[in-house]
Amino acid sequence: STTPVKVAVTGAAGQIGYSLLFRIASGSLFGPDTPVELRLLEITPALKALEGVVMELDDCAFPTLAGVEIGDDAEKVFDGVNHALLVGARPRGPGMERGDLLEANGGIFAPQGAALNKVAADDVHITITGNPANTNALIAMSNAPDIPNERFSALTRLDHNRAISQLSAKLGVPVTEIKKMTIWGNHSATQYPDLFHAEVSGKNAAETVGDQEWLESTFIPTVAKRGAAIIEARGASSAASAASATVDHARDWALGTPADNWVSMSVCSDGSYGVPEGLISSFPVTVKDGKWEIVQGLEIDDFSRAKIDASVAELAEEREAVTKLGLIKG
Ligand code: NAI
Repeated sequence: STTPVKVAVTGAAGQIGYSLLFRIASGSLFGPDTPVELRLLEITPALKALEGVVMELDDCAFPTLAGVEIGDDAEKVFDGVNHALLVGARPRGPGMERGDLLEANGGIFAPQGAALNKVAADDVHITITGNPANTNALIAMSNAPDIPNERFSALTRLDHNRAISQLSAKLGVPVTEIKKMTIWGNHSATQYPDLFHAEVSGKNAAETVGDQEWLESTFIPTVAKRGAAIIEARGASSAASAASATVDHARDWALGTPADNWVSMSVCSDGSYGVPEGLISSFPVTVKDGKWEIVQGLEIDDFSRAKIDASVAELAEEREAVTKLGLIKG
């Protein structure tokens, strides 16, 4: 088709934006035959830096880039967008409590949800990368009453990809041999990367590893604390990998998952696997025609149950905190 897909990116002048915009513009999201128009939102003081990034986008002469608009007014930038990638968020500053962090981000994601509600295209799909991603998604969703809840999701694909990479290295197999990885719960240190339903060359991953000690004491904490390890090594938080995961997430949501595989997405719970309804929690999902479905019928043993429950309890606490702050509508 020749009508460009309109893709909004917030926090476009940030670290993740510096990688993400070029991936989208070069066709990584929708392929080489679909032109994209970028709609970039920043706060006013970052617009000048963003203009510089746009100069670089121009200089790439990407055949798939049909246009770029930038601005600091969400209602203008989000007008008619088909995909919204909400990356810009307020990082935790020194001495900031978790409640302060949730409140500061509520001040970003409540109005952005309301702006999307007002001006986005009817088919809009919204991905929240900015942390705390799950609860920011919950806030945006609750402030957008006319957009169906299933159009909001938060990014746990980076954790999913990290889990695949760790397992691939452990077993010495290519990442393409690994299927059905699942991240459950919150995009935080409590997340649960699950090897009991994953497959390696068609065989159960946990059985193939055959080492519960490695699974518990190495695999899970390595995946869950990978973000901190990157900061320690690089002196800055993961950006290119977060951008890549955002592209993977949005692409699979738009174009679908293969028949023999699933992906991890944080989506609005319908009560599946005992996750309270309405929480934005990570699940194994399949996607067809732009719609996700939570994979049903997986057996959850006591070990997995406890891990999922702990992460979901954290999400429930965050929901309670932002509800008390008046950030949840409806
Ligand atoms: P960054 O600080 O380099 O960039 C964030 C940008 O957002 C800044 O340019 C800032 O001006 C902008 N911004 C702030 N408030 C805004 C608003 N109201 N509207 C539009 N733009 C706004 O941060 P970076 O490294 O790009 O990370 C962005 C977010 O992604 C952070 O919250 C980070 O924690 C999160 N993240 C999430 C991951 C995930 O797997 N879900 C992985 C890595 C990072």
